[in-house]
Amino acid sequence: MNKEFKNKYGDWCLITGATSGIGAELTSQIAAMGLNIVLVARNEKVLKEHAEAIQKRYGVRAKYIAADLSTEAGARKVAEVGEEIGLLVLAAGLEVNGAFEKTSLEKELQVVQLNVVSTLMLTHHFSKGMVSRGRGGILMVASLSGHMPNPYFANYAGSKAYVLNLGASLYGELKPKGVDVSVLSPGLTNTPMIADNGMDWSKTPMTPMEPAAVAEVGLLGLGKRFLSVPGGKNKMMGFMAKHSSLEMQAKMNEKMVRKAISPAKL
Ligand SMILES: NC(=O)c1ccc[n+]([C@@H]2O[C@H](COP(=O)([O-])OP(=O)(O)OC[C@H]3O[C@@H](n4cnc5c(N)ncnc54)[C@H](OP(=O)(O)O)[C@@H]3O)[C@@H](O)[C@H]2O)c1
Repeated sequence: MNKEFKNKYGDWCLITGATSGIGAELTSQIAAMGLNIVLVARNEKVLKEHAEAIQKRYGVRAKYIAADLSTEAGARKVAEVGEEIGLLVLAAGLEVNGAFEKTSLEKELQVVQLNVVSTLMLTHHFSKGMVSRGRGGILMVASLSGHMPNPYFANYAGSKAYVLNLGASLYGELKPKGVDVSVLSPGLTNTPMIADNGMDWSKTPMTPMEPAAVAEVGLLGLGKRFLSVPGGKNKMMGFMAKHSSLEMQAKMNEKMVRKAISPAKL
């Protein structure tokens, strides 16, 4: 995979959500293949530390852009990057959970802005250059939640369904133009996102995967398939989602999440 990636996509990869969890693992694994990285997240101090560590460890160039992608201005700032981006990885994401009528609308709008609008804006911007060069790669991180109804995570599930369908459509459209599009749909993954979100996942049948393994599956899939779902249990859930009614899944998942969510959020 090492040389193949650099030959296929060129020198520079831009990664959102590059400083934590799945995005940080994708960053390390892509840098290990010799691509230079533009890291994107909000916290400038952490970005600087990560960029320095990557340069030192992998001998590649690393730049960073501090931007809040839950604002249009943040996405525009990222689009102004000077480097020719051959590989775009969209890992930044936000989730809100709890009874729908009780969650903060402001936070829910941030979910849409970050998971949906910034995905659209950055993909739209960077795909132009890729299409004109006749080569490129786009890896979008969705979620198993985007494949099925997920009560108490309703807006998050809707935002990830958007990513899944945008990715699938672009997979068909951009492949003939030389651009690989792939979606990575993780299930529960051991990252800061799930560390303090009011859920006790041990009350569900789900077992968290490690972010390094999740990132590896995503990178192996890019250029080979449209969709990568890491882990046997997650694949099984994805399969069931495809083959059972939305009504049945909505009822089943409501029961499962209700057991695990903090009662204060219901
Ligand atoms: N963990 C899971 O169980 C799981 C399951 C399925 C799918 N996913 C998806 O996988 C992706 C990565 O999740 P993760 O669990 O690895 O998350 P994480 O550990 O919480 O990391 C999130 C990353 O995104 C950046 N970020 C957050 N808000 C941002 C904003 N408004 N603008 C720019 N950057 C922002 C964070 O840095 P700053 O805070 O400095 O901005 C950080 O680098 C997300 O799209 C998530 O929806 C996660």
